Amino acid sequence: RNAAPAALVIFGASGDLTRRKLLPAVYNLALSRLLPGGFAVVGVARRDKPDFADSMREAVDKYSRRPLEDAVWSDLARGISYVKGDFDDDATYEALAKELDRLDQERGTRKSRVFYLAVPPDQVTAIVRGLSKSKLISPSGHDDDDRFERVVVEKPFGEDLPSARDLNRGLSAHLSESQIYRIDHYLGKETVQNLLVLRFGNTIFEPLWTRQHIERVELTVAEDIGVEGRGKFYEKVGITRDIVQNHALQLLTLVAMEPPSSWDADAVRDEKVKVLRALRPITGKAVLDHTVRAQYAAGVVRGEKVPGYREEPDVAKDSLTETYVALRAHVDNWRWSGVPFTLRTGKRLARRVAEVVLHFKPLPHGLFRGRDGDQPNALVMRLQPDEGISLRFAAKVPGSGMALRGVTMDFRYGAAFGSSTPEAYERLLLDVLRGDATLFTRSDEVEAQWRFIDPIFAGWAAEHAKVATYPAGSWGPEAADALVAPDRWRRP
Ligand code: BG6
Repeated sequence: RNAAPAALVIFGASGDLTRRKLLPAVYNLALSRLLPGGFAVVGVARRDKPDFADSMREAVDKYSRRPLEDAVWSDLARGISYVKGDFDDDATYEALAKELDRLDQERGTRKSRVFYLAVPPDQVTAIVRGLSKSKLISPSGHDDDDRFERVVVEKPFGEDLPSARDLNRGLSAHLSESQIYRIDHYLGKETVQNLLVLRFGNTIFEPLWTRQHIERVELTVAEDIGVEGRGKFYEKVGITRDIVQNHALQLLTLVAMEPPSSWDADAVRDEKVKVLRALRPITGKAVLDHTVRAQYAAGVVRGEKVPGYREEPDVAKDSLTETYVALRAHVDNWRWSGVPFTLRTGKRLARRVAEVVLHFKPLPHGLFRGRDGDQPNALVMRLQPDEGISLRFAAKVPGSGMALRGVTMDFRYGAAFGSSTPEAYERLLLDVLRGDATLFTRSDEVEAQWRFIDPIFAGWAAEHAKVATYPAGSWGPEAADALVAPDRWRRP
């Protein structure tokens, strides 16, 4: 489907996301000639920004994955404008409506709009109310290719189940669900989407994708960066809300879901929700042996000394916020009964790596037991960096004996497709313009995610669960090694 003409309105246009991700993504789409004929960008924020388009040019120059081409940028820049105003002031929306009318006339945006809310969650409801009051959106909504009003909502989507429900209610008072696009940028990653292609676009993997063959599933989202000046945000949020509730659970659902009947937004999301509902709640004392939470202390990351979390700006000296979490989850259904899903994520770990590993069962009979290379098979899906997939199996070492060695069969994205892969935000923005919500989180999905997360926090509080520490640059606290795998964490 082609993207239909529309104006992209970004609330929170003076923020980091707009500079680092959104405008570079828009520019890359322009460069690839994927934007619709009639297109414009309107930034909305509180600050005065007479030079909005110029500052966006700088941002694109700095953050885009491809070099800035003057002709492409100038063309795009002619459709970039800015409206200054408070989000709870009616005048802001009046000014915006006027600007959008002008763009309809001059840039051919045909009364279709995408409102991108790159703002903290407590401002979402006010903006949606303002848009509705000024008739820029309505739930009976125009939502077809000729004319549409869509709203994109950034994470964090609430801080627990009640607040997520409030947010959902605030949105659904003024919009229908099909107009709402809750973004989780992990779903925009090529390698994450490829999990579905690997499973459902091939015949050889899916028959093995069950408890009969799989011993355990290991999901890792490790980062080497710290909180990057976001101490204030992190103190409130912590890594469980920042990454587990969304990105990590998305990976888990894509690995565990049943095949959908079609690649239709609701068919796919129905299957994902079923997985979330089948997650066994980790409640009460179970948190003690199913989770490990920890915080980084000072250490050395890639040869550089870095401060501990408590020494970061805007972080309390006695903070108990977790920057690492490991947990063992179970999907209680026919396919996965008895298979642990271990999931771990942390800041300031030894290096950046996100991957999913399926560990297959050991041999039923140890013909070659005890010999080198007698390791169970594993399928490693490396999401980033060095994107690729490798299958580990045993091979006979050439020679007169019967020695075995573990070898891998490798697929590398770079080698197969070249290195310039679109960024997550490019794909997702384009999907919004095309009206395809498959890669966005539905309201019941978000609520099901929180329904799994909330009891963990309640358990930590009730059981006074410890917050362990780990040196920055390590692979996390010792306690996690025992939790996530019978053998030690396979250091990637
Ligand atoms: C964001 C989190 O959603 O994802 C950040 O708020 C995190 O804390 C980031 O660093 C990781 O994204 P990526 O694409 O770099 O893996």
